[in-house]
Amino acid sequence: MFGKRALNDLEDKPKPKLPEPAKAPAAPVSAQPPQPQRVPEQKPAGARPSAAAPADRQAAAPPPVRPAGRARKSEEYYRVKTQIFGALIDTIDLSQLAKMDVEQAREEIRDIVNDIIQVKNLVMSISEQEELLEDICNDVLGYGPLEPLLARDDIADIMVNGADQVFIEVKGKVEETDIRFRDNGQLLNICQRIVSQVGRRVDESSPICDARLPDGSRVNVIAPPLSIDGPTLTIRKFKKDKLTLDQLVQFGTITPEGATILQIVGRVRCNVLVSGGTGSGKTTLLNCLTRYIDHDERIVTCEDAAELQLQQPHVVRLETRPPNLEGEGEVTMRDLVKNCLRMRPERIIVGEVRGPEAFDLLQAMNTGHDGSMGTLHANSPREAMSRIESMITMGGYALPSKTIREMIVSSIDVIVQAARLRDGSRRITHVTEVLGMEGDVIITQDLFVYDLIGEDQHGRLIGRHRSTGIGRPAFWDRARYYGEEQRLAAALDAAEYDEPHRS
Ligand SMILES: Nc1ncnc2c1ncn2[C@@H]1O[C@H](COP(=O)(O)OP(=O)(O)OP(=O)(O)O)[C@@H](O)[C@H]1O
Ligand SMILES: [Mg+2]
Repeated sequence: MFGKRALNDLEDKPKPKLPEPAKAPAAPVSAQPPQPQRVPEQKPAGARPSAAAPADRQAAAPPPVRPAGRARKSEEYYRVKTQIFGALIDTIDLSQLAKMDVEQAREEIRDIVNDIIQVKNLVMSISEQEELLEDICNDVLGYGPLEPLLARDDIADIMVNGADQVFIEVKGKVEETDIRFRDNGQLLNICQRIVSQVGRRVDESSPICDARLPDGSRVNVIAPPLSIDGPTLTIRKFKKDKLTLDQLVQFGTITPEGATILQIVGRVRCNVLVSGGTGSGKTTLLNCLTRYIDHDERIVTCEDAAELQLQQPHVVRLETRPPNLEGEGEVTMRDLVKNCLRMRPERIIVGEVRGPEAFDLLQAMNTGHDGSMGTLHANSPREAMSRIESMITMGGYALPSKTIREMIVSSIDVIVQAARLRDGSRRITHVTEVLGMEGDVIITQDLFVYDLIGEDQHGRLIGRHRSTGIGRPAFWDRARYYGEEQRLAAALDAAEYDEPHRS
C-alpha cells in the first residue's frame, strides 16, 4: 500500500543440584576456632513474615543511602572493619539473621557490633561507629559496598574491576569512585548473591553469568580465571522513570523538529532500526518511539532483560532465558521472535538484535507487521545495514548478499543513529531513510544529521542538528494515511534553519 512493502556457555559437567539461594555472605576467613553461636532474639509481636534470604529482603527494603563523595577510607578503617566483621560472623547465627526482617536484623547487628567495640576496646567516634555499622549491615544484608551506588539515581552504569577499582558513569562520563571491597572474596560473594537470585552460580567452572537485580537492573559477572584481576561486575542501572522525547530535546539530543519527526515515524508504523554504540541511548530512544504507538495496537516485545516500558494497554512482554547449569532450557531471541509471529502481533519490538533473529525480524517487518522496531550496535546507519547482513549470513542462511540487501530495503524504513560523544553528551546523529537499491548498493537518504562544529572552553562539544532539506520523505504517504502529513511538512520546514546549539 505504501510502495515499498510488497512483500552462556556452560562447559562444566552436569551438576547434581541448583545452588541454594545465598543465605548470607561467606564469612571472611577467620583463624579463630568456632565459638558458641549467639542466636539473635526474635522480636515477638508485629514482626513481618520471615524473609528467605537477605537478598530477597533487599528487594523489599530501600537500600540505605550514603552521601556521595565521601572521603576515601584509610587502611586502618578497613583493618578495624575486618576485625569487627570477623568477630561478628563468629558470634552471630547467620541463618537466624536471615529469618528476620531488615530492621530487626540491623538492630541485632548494631547491638553485637557495639558489644564487640567495647570488648575489643576500640576507640571510635560516634560518627565513625555509625559509618562502620552501616558498612557492616550492607555487607551482611545487602550488596556490601555497592549499596550506596545502587541507591543513587544519577548513575547509569556501575563497573567493578576487581576489589580495588569501582567506576561509575554519571552524566555520560566515566569516573572512579572511592568504593572498594575488602578483597576479591567479598566481591565474588556479592556477585554470587546477585546471580543466585536467577538460579545461577558463578565460580571457576562457570565464570560468566548474566543476571538481574530485584529492581530490574541488568548485571553481568565474569569471574577468574577469565577475568585476570578479580571478579568483574557490570551493572546497567534500571531507571524507573525513563527519559522522554521532551527531555531528550532539553538535553540537546535532538531538536524539537527532529523529535516531532520521530514521533510521526513512531506513530505511522514505519519499521525502525535504532543503531548506536554501547550505552549511546538506543533502548531509551526505542522506548521513546514506542510512546507514540496508537493504543489500539497489539504489541509484542522481545528482550534479553525487560527494559522497555510501553504505555499501551495491549502489550505482551517476552524475555529470553539463558541455559541452566546443565546447559539446557535456553530460549533464544530467535525463538521468541519466531513465536511472536504466531501471537497475532501488530508490531514486534526487539530490544536488541544481535544474531540470526535479524532474519525473522526483517521477515516480520515485511509480512504485515508494519511499525516493528529493534536496536542494534553499529556506528552509522550504513554499518547497521551491513551488520544485519552479516548477522543473517552468520545465522547460516545460504542467501546471496543481494537477496539479503533486497530484504533489508523492503523491510526497514528508517534508521535512527544514536551516539555518545566524547564529552559524555548523547546525540541523535542521523535520521536516515532506506530508499532502494542501485545495482548491489543500498540507497539511503538522511533527513537529519548532526554536525560537530567545535568545542567550548569547558571541553563540551558544540554541534548542530540540521535538516538535509528533504521536503518529502519516502514515508510521506504513510504520514498522509495517518493524517500526519501537515505536521510532518511543518517540522521539515522549520528544521531547514540552523538550530542554535543547546548543551
Ligand atoms: N539522550 C540522553 N541523554 C542523557 N542520558 C541518556 C540519554 N539517552 C540515554 N541516557 C542514559 O544513558 C544510559 C544508557 O542508556 P540506554 O540503556 O538507552 O543505552 P543503550 O544504547 O541501550 O545501551 P546498551 O548498549 O548497553 O544496551 C541510561 O542510564 C539512560 O538513562
Ligand atoms: Mg540497550
